[in-house]
Amino acid sequence: MKKFVVIGNPIEHSLSPTLHNYWIKNNGIDAIYEKRKLNEDELKQQILQVKEKKISGINVTVPFKKTIIPFLDELSIEAESIQSVNTIYLRDNKVIGHNTDIFGFETSIKKSKFNLTDKEVLILGAGGVVPSIIFALNKMKISKIKISNRTKDKAENLKTLFKNIEIIEWGEVPNVDMIINATSLGLKKEDKINLDFSLISKNAFFYDVIYNPRETNFLKTGKKLGCTTLNGKLMFIYQALLAFNIWHKLEPNVDENVIKLLD
Ligand code: ATR
Repeated sequence: MKKFVVIGNPIEHSLSPTLHNYWIKNNGIDAIYEKRKLNEDELKQQILQVKEKKISGINVTVPFKKTIIPFLDELSIEAESIQSVNTIYLRDNKVIGHNTDIFGFETSIKKSKFNLTDKEVLILGAGGVVPSIIFALNKMKISKIKISNRTKDKAENLKTLFKNIEIIEWGEVPNVDMIINATSLGLKKEDKINLDFSLISKNAFFYDVIYNPRETNFLKTGKKLGCTTLNGKLMFIYQALLAFNIWHKLEPNVDENVIKLLD
């Protein structure tokens, strides 16, 4: 039986095992997917298990997406560009690191049918997931990416990876076509982002990376303004789908059951 794991710290909240084990069962694959809470000094040993074929694949989550990199043999172009790995596998005896968050974000936008060509986007936050989002947005040929983060230095640091972004003050919300919440504000139901969204038009798109709770106060605000809204569930599902596809060489189904599984 093949073994797959998601590693992180904390890891209790991860829904990756639920989703992967559902697809594993549905496709009649002899495998199991587990979660493992690790400390940083255990990363090397964990990667060794891939090399020794004791583990067939790893998903990496917070806070190891960057710190795992020195233990890998090779990175995909995407993972290299954003210095973030969430999917690991063995190819020709080399441990490869890839990033499927980019595909997850891009596919969720495609499914939403919101056309981003030549549009302006504002990203709130500058944490772990933001480089994947910027990379995907650049692929989608948007005209401008603005970033606003409470700690401005962290947003400024992103400029070393992406020259084309513009950093604006936390508190400033210009009239953009799409606004993305990539902060952790909203994870608690009562969390509110204390910003003034009144310049945003009703044709705009409110996107929250958070999917639990299903509708954050940020998305509620977007809805009230008459805007299109989407939570991070599809992004989560499609990042998992690409990892599954890489490991099992199969395209799993994204049906009603999968969507319900994560509610
Ligand atoms: P990390 O920053 O360790 O990668 P993350 O969960 O990926 O963690 O990112 C959390 C994001 O939410 C950050 O952009 C953070 O802003 P700071 O860089 O200023 O910490 C943002 N965030 C968290 N709590 C916030 C709050 N109360 N107000 C505004 N932004 C907040």
